[in-house]
Amino acid sequence: MKNILSIDDLANDEISAVLDNAARIKSEGVRGTELAGRIAALLFFEPSTRTRLSFASAAQRLGMGVIGFDDPATSSAAKGESLTDTIQVVQTYADLIVLRHPRAGAAHEAAGVAAVPLVNGGDGGREHPTQTLYDLFTVRERFGRLDGLRVGFYGDLRFGRAANSLALALSRFGAELTWIAPADLQPAEEVVAAVRGRGAATATAERPAEVLSGLDVLYVSRPQRERWPAAMAPELPPVTRELLGRAPEQLLVLHPLPRTDELAVDVDADPRAGYFQQVANGVPVRMAVLRQLLAG
Ligand code: NCD
Repeated sequence: MKNILSIDDLANDEISAVLDNAARIKSEGVRGTELAGRIAALLFFEPSTRTRLSFASAAQRLGMGVIGFDDPATSSAAKGESLTDTIQVVQTYADLIVLRHPRAGAAHEAAGVAAVPLVNGGDGGREHPTQTLYDLFTVRERFGRLDGLRVGFYGDLRFGRAANSLALALSRFGAELTWIAPADLQPAEEVVAAVRGRGAATATAERPAEVLSGLDVLYVSRPQRERWPAAMAPELPPVTRELLGRAPEQLLVLHPLPRTDELAVDVDADPRAGYFQQVANGVPVRMAVLRQLLAG
């Protein structure tokens, strides 16, 4: 495995291997120098808190150095440098590149000119594979398996890359998926076709209350207003603790974060809220990814 551009770059057994490795890292509290002397470049052309800081934390916990930028206005992109030129330069400074970019397809374009491993840290509304890895890790940690779970996605499923990537992954593990969103925010045709093409059972609903009782996981994601066409203003009523009154006791509520109004703060006190464990799992999972791409 050279790059992680899409969750589909990893076969199911490779996903399991990364998650097993992350579980060992988490339980043993790994810190060390095993990747000392290596450098990760974090190139963020779009805002980020979790992805950038957890990759930096993961790299440093393995002894790596970290370089990069978090605002393209401070890089030569502001002078008109192309993405591929930037990548060709940075690959001479670093052993691995994590790229976040507002344009779908940017990670594949960058990987085309990168001689070092490239990780897609989110490109447009398309994919966010390392988010998916720690989403899967969190699901497996709770249920002990990835197979055959009933997962509802609620929120912006058209422009939200975290939900897209996770749906693509879960459809390979025999999940039953329910897309819960108003018509404007239902997933793009190609995502629906890809998921169905893998034999996953799918359904749609408009409101979580319609389907909550039959779910193992409710994956909530925020309205991605920065990617909406100008006239769009769909409503996403919040998931509240009161709403969860109708949900099964073993439901796992996940959210890639950041949250806005689609998930009420009162859910945090509910034992079914799993999103802060989920975000904490980002570090061991990203450590496992760095090991996988750089070991040897
Ligand atoms: C997500 C993203 O950037 O796609 N954030 C993250 O990495 N956890 C989710 C989002 O912005 O809604």
